[in-house]
Amino acid sequence: MYRLSRLSKYGRVASPRFMSSAGNLGGRVAIITAGTDGIGLAIAKRLGQNGARVVVSSRKQKNIDRAVDELKSIGIKVLGIPCDVADSEQRQNLIKKTMKDFGSINILVQNAGVNPHLLNIMETPGSVLDKTYGLHIKANFQIVQEIFPHMTKSEHQGSIILTSSIIGYTSQLIPGAYAITKASISAMVRAFTPELMNRNIRINCVSFGGIDTSFFQKVQQNQPFRDSLLSYVPMKRFGTVDECAGFAAYLASDDASYVTGENFVIAGGLYSRP
Ligand SMILES: NC(=O)c1ccc[n+]([C@@H]2O[C@H](COP(=O)([O-])OP(=O)(O)OC[C@H]3O[C@@H](n4cnc5c(N)ncnc54)[C@H](OP(=O)(O)O)[C@@H]3O)[C@@H](O)[C@H]2O)c1
Repeated sequence: MYRLSRLSKYGRVASPRFMSSAGNLGGRVAIITAGTDGIGLAIAKRLGQNGARVVVSSRKQKNIDRAVDELKSIGIKVLGIPCDVADSEQRQNLIKKTMKDFGSINILVQNAGVNPHLLNIMETPGSVLDKTYGLHIKANFQIVQEIFPHMTKSEHQGSIILTSSIIGYTSQLIPGAYAITKASISAMVRAFTPELMNRNIRINCVSFGGIDTSFFQKVQQNQPFRDSLLSYVPMKRFGTVDECAGFAAYLASDDASYVTGENFVIAGGLYSRP
């Protein structure tokens, strides 16, 4: 156990308490957006297994029901709430219902992403840029602002994780709008860091390489793009959702209490320069 004794304009920053071993999230409440499939569901599972009560959310009720059943079947305390992260009212409802049913919010994993077209950048219409901007930049920005007052009420250090993509740090022919807006997330994290730090909240970005999910299946249908991507991966394979979940669980826990404002890459050795 150690103490942080730095003073900020808001007062003394609370000391984290290391209660036991790595990844202990007992007493925490975690919201995982886009948490009903793929990487988000694996993260929800791992946070739940480490003791957190989890809220899984996505747009479709049938996906929520399936994820809730799966998590409950392994003993995780879980709530399912529909929310399209791009919709302001639905975000407010997600936060309000979580506070009502679980009483606090300590961890946010904002994991929703959209890649509407695999187009060359010169052929990409403004509407595609608007859509990716709306989710990756505007919605991320707003959900952090919206969750902030609730996280500051907790005795636990808050942890916010925004998910991004290695594509934002590479030079690929496609998909430009996705790459540009995803890459902006690491800049957003740095911009939020000082103010959140003063209120005992950490914020980090995790950028994935090719991870085997249904989202990535669609990408893999473009064989030349898939082959070109794989040829750059030093490990010569794509990743699994469990290889993402453990790292998110670390960032969510007090083991990462001195880690904020960073971008981490999970991409089988792919070089990144955020
Ligand atoms: N897999 C990869 O190779 C890879 C690589 C780099 C980055 N990423 C990023 O990692 C994140 C997760 O991807 P994944 O591969 O795990 O995807 P996935 O397996 O296809 O799952 C996507 C999840 O997102 C939900 N969702 C989609 N749009 C949403 C929205 N607007 N609001 C709320 N939920 C939404 C879906 O449920 P509903 O349909 O019910 O909404 C589903 O639960 C994304 O941000 C993606 O950009 C993935």
